[in-house]
Amino acid sequence: MAKEPKIYKGLDGVVVDETSISKVMPETNSLTYRGYAVQGLCEHCCFEEVAYLLWHGQLPTRTQLRAFKKDERSRRKISRDHLGVIQKFPKRAHPMDTIRTSVSYLGTTEIAWGGEPVEADMERSMNLLAKIPTMIATDYRLRKGKRRIAPRTDLSFSENFLNMCFGEVPPKQVVKAFDISLILYAEHSFNASTFATRVVTSTMSDVYSAVTAGIGALKGPLHGGANEAVMNMLLEIGSADKAEAWLRDAVANKRVVMGFGHRVYKWGDSRVPTMRGCLEDLARWKNDRKWIEIEDVLEDIMVKEKKIHPNLDYPAGPAYYMMGFDIDMYTPIFVMSRITGWTAHYMEQNAANRLIRPLSAYTGVKQRRVKPIAKR
Ligand code: COA
Repeated sequence: MAKEPKIYKGLDGVVVDETSISKVMPETNSLTYRGYAVQGLCEHCCFEEVAYLLWHGQLPTRTQLRAFKKDERSRRKISRDHLGVIQKFPKRAHPMDTIRTSVSYLGTTEIAWGGEPVEADMERSMNLLAKIPTMIATDYRLRKGKRRIAPRTDLSFSENFLNMCFGEVPPKQVVKAFDISLILYAEHSFNASTFATRVVTSTMSDVYSAVTAGIGALKGPLHGGANEAVMNMLLEIGSADKAEAWLRDAVANKRVVMGFGHRVYKWGDSRVPTMRGCLEDLARWKNDRKWIEIEDVLEDIMVKEKKIHPNLDYPAGPAYYMMGFDIDMYTPIFVMSRITGWTAHYMEQNAANRLIRPLSAYTGVKQRRVKPIAKR
């Protein structure tokens, strides 16, 4: 008799490949991108520097950063045809569905395959990084019946996106909080969407197909969609005095409390304190601590009684709310950032590729004979 295979449901604990892009260390509650602690990157770098780091393995010099920014800014515009596609999206479609389709459309405008020279991959990655914010912001404005705002080349990556959405660049602390959120969301080793990207890459498909798969995986509320779910939960609770009763009811009914728990971090998510600091800054700017107060009540009970800690989506949800974004924009913002990690993994997978094709244990009916329809 064949030995029963051991099944690792959800690939829990399985190491499927090597990576030199980022390291998640749950035992010390830390995360590094190319060897740099993410907190240090948030303190000293802008998002563009981190994008450069993820793709090139080193932080840029001043001259390299200038050239990188110039290149990114020069690619922000989308074509008239692409604009026409965005204009046709149903106004009630979820922005994750529209950005998934928009990226896929971009993939129809050029012939791309896996296994091309790394220069071609870099070029396409830069195109995606530069154009995704334009696609998201254009869709955001049009669905609200507003005029689209063209990208500007005199603004940083974050400033330009905020300007395309809101028609102005918000105060410095808002831009800073937004930029930090992009750095924190940029990369996280073999998470579900990155793994989906790598699976598609491993078939030697193209970068647009790989990224489209990543966006599809990110949309789910157990992954990127959690930042939206957190804010919906806070709105449902309404005020801090109702938070404890709400939580006890949720736990009694075995409801998942959004923004808590993580497959890898079991003693807290290393990115949370930095994002929580940004949330505090935004609350001061808005003079509104309501969401923080609700979150504090929930966190206190979840950590003390269930030993489950908040993840990055927990402070990010209300931070984006205070910045003024509609809730369904939070996960598309995650896409704008994670495109750097996905494309870095696309290039890494291509550099040492082997088709990803796991096995499964069959539990269906035993083999049987097909009877012609007259005899069934
Ligand atoms: N709310 C309530 N209970 C939770 C929980 C949460 N957010 N996260 C984990 N748990 C509980 C589970 O019910 C389970 O309890 P049990 O052992 O009594 O059945 C235990 O903690 C282990 O959780 P499990 O679901 O096995 O962990 P996982 O590694 O499979 O799942 C997540 C990780 C992220 C999918 C899960 O924590 C979750 O659904 N979180 C909410 C969504 C979220 O915030 N996602 C963003 C992740 S960055």
